Amino acid sequence: MFGAAAWLLLSAASLFAQNGLANPEIERRIDVLLRQMTLAEKIGQLTQYSAGAPTGPGTGRAGYSDQVAQGEIGSFLNLSGAAQTNALQRIAVERSRLKIPLLFGLDIIHGYHTIFPVPLGLASTWDPELLERAARVAAKEATAEGIRWTFSPMVDIARDARWGRIVEGAGEDPYLGSVMAAASVRGYQGARLDSADSLAACAKHFVGYGAAEAGRDYNAADMSEHRLRQVYLPPFAAAVRAGAASVMSAFNSLNAVPATADAMTLTRILRQEWGFRGLVVSDWNAVEELIAQGIATNGATAARKALLAGVDMDMESGLYQHSLRDLVRSGALPETAVDEAVRRVLRVKFALGLFDHPYTPEGLASPALQVELARQIAERSLILLKNEPVNSLPPSVTPSQNKPLLPLPSRPQTIALVGPLADSPVDMLGSWPGKGDVHTVVTLKSALQERIRQLGGRLLYAPGTEIDTASEVGFGEALKVAQGAGVTIVALGEDAARMTGEAASRASLTLPGNQQRLLETVASPGKPVVLIVFSGRPLALTWAAAHVAAIIQAWYPGIQAGPALTRVLFGDANFSGKLTVSMPRSVGQEPLYYNALKTGRPAGNVDLTRPPATEAEKYVSRYIDEINAPLFLFGYGLSYTRFTYSSLNLAGVPVSARALNDGSAELQVSATITNSGSRAGREIAQLYIGQRGTSVVLPEKELKGFSTVELAPGQSREVEFKLGREQLAFWNIAMHHEVEPSEVTVWIGPNSAEGQQAQFKIAP
Ligand code: NOJ
Repeated sequence: MFGAAAWLLLSAASLFAQNGLANPEIERRIDVLLRQMTLAEKIGQLTQYSAGAPTGPGTGRAGYSDQVAQGEIGSFLNLSGAAQTNALQRIAVERSRLKIPLLFGLDIIHGYHTIFPVPLGLASTWDPELLERAARVAAKEATAEGIRWTFSPMVDIARDARWGRIVEGAGEDPYLGSVMAAASVRGYQGARLDSADSLAACAKHFVGYGAAEAGRDYNAADMSEHRLRQVYLPPFAAAVRAGAASVMSAFNSLNAVPATADAMTLTRILRQEWGFRGLVVSDWNAVEELIAQGIATNGATAARKALLAGVDMDMESGLYQHSLRDLVRSGALPETAVDEAVRRVLRVKFALGLFDHPYTPEGLASPALQVELARQIAERSLILLKNEPVNSLPPSVTPSQNKPLLPLPSRPQTIALVGPLADSPVDMLGSWPGKGDVHTVVTLKSALQERIRQLGGRLLYAPGTEIDTASEVGFGEALKVAQGAGVTIVALGEDAARMTGEAASRASLTLPGNQQRLLETVASPGKPVVLIVFSGRPLALTWAAAHVAAIIQAWYPGIQAGPALTRVLFGDANFSGKLTVSMPRSVGQEPLYYNALKTGRPAGNVDLTRPPATEAEKYVSRYIDEINAPLFLFGYGLSYTRFTYSSLNLAGVPVSARALNDGSAELQVSATITNSGSRAGREIAQLYIGQRGTSVVLPEKELKGFSTVELAPGQSREVEFKLGREQLAFWNIAMHHEVEPSEVTVWIGPNSAEGQQAQFKIAP
């Protein structure tokens, strides 16, 4: 029945065996230890406190030495540095009765010292291998400073740009999200969990956090089981299948049950269906928040509900520490439930090799920053959204030439650089800067300055405004530099720390402050302007898309922001990044995502640019004041060259649902991609399917594969994809994951709207 689940269980089991989470010897050592532990020591293993700068509402707690010596704390977060972690570890290992080592966790999200692009930028590369390499670098750097556990990857599907945490994930698509989730887990955990440079990964936030109503952080999520299984669970399943050692329970309620007290997701799905063997940690204070959510009226009930649902470790609330003992003694909580949670925590500690190697060598030089890799990944994360000759013109003006504005010519010239993000190192570090140091950042201004100096030209710089202000005092200077230059580069966007990430939802998706006015001031028609947007979410760049010649979506590229941007601006490197989130025209379109379910009244060919004039135009799924389509769609991104798709070929038909379900049949679909432009380039070819005649409504199109090809001018290559059970099965009306007889359309193309297509039938 749960065909997919059974397969998942099998592949997860073999990985867990390899990485120590299913090792009979370790289980025996846990048995021995558990028999010696007092109830208080057991509860200690389930307790985690912050021992550094808080990453949530602070509790003011401090001074943990005595509790560690008593075995009352099992894990800390927010502490780093070998000397600091060793100092506490020494107390645990040398002074506590059972010498159980502490586990130190930290949010290492897009780099530790070497800061890479934010996760949304990493995903825009569509390159799991690069993501894996970035995670490996982060693991090496962080483990050298005493950390063995990262609260990453965030694998929440995010379809609402208002939600500040959209920056922390891979975007709106479950397939892409799954590929990226697995890549991060592999990167953090390396080949063996017990290597000194392996970080235990943590897939978060389980589950539905990205579906917070109205895009407001911490808000409730409510969705069908179909949507949960079809969209929100797959990236978690992929992380588990890749061997993830831990999962974090989310803040939100899902279908009226707080995720931190949800036995259906934490136990039935995660552990029973998927065979997950690692530990579940609550999010920050989420156990106590069960009271505010109203399913507990006191701390003891909150603790009992969370533990019984499957939360093993209590991050920061202290309720396990304070309530579990009485609950067990009064018989309200079976001690076996505590034992089970302790076993999972100890299992991860053993698997990491902490019992044998609890300390981190001190005084070693920290590994060198991986500048070259940071630049390469940053380059690949940039998305070219628009590239035309000059800003849109009044009809009377004729452009002098048709060449797109970018790349800029490599000759002496005067370039103006305007905008509050042009020279802001801290923003380049993004939403989770880790231990990133602003002094390691090369901004756009400094890289551009250097480049223009080499060319013998001039850079005129004026910030124009701040990120979020009404003051226009800088506008005059900005206009002056723009007028004195051949081309103006305008670097605008959001404040990374304040406007993106946790607790940073926005009700408006425009450029903050008066940046839009600054843009309009410098971008007069007929003048060449390049807009570079640094943001943690897709913004509604509607005016810019209509008026500005060239637009680059840069997200926050990390320490090599400037060099990466300068290289693509001058064409030393080509663009290849593509959107993993839909960019809206206006906030009212949110949540906005390409793979929405089909409606009974699709807008079809109705002209949505004007209000409905006839019944046929009116009674369709539309807005009366906005078109449905995003401004820039999922999978989209331009290059300096052109790619053409041809010769779509389908093999393996006729095919039956039965044969697909039992794995004995599989189709192959291929297409030829030609670089028909004049520069070398890298193209991300995407495979989509759509099915009709199924027992449930499915999206018009769903991503099922992608493949990257690098092509010299004139060169062609074939890309081939498999279409088997994994690609064609879905959660059907009986809530079984299987292939049904249907009519299938398959596309191979450059984005979610274009491409070559073919149809085939799946017989019963
Ligand atoms: C709260 C955030 O939701 C979570 O992602 C993070 O890992 C914890 N705080 C710990 O900092």
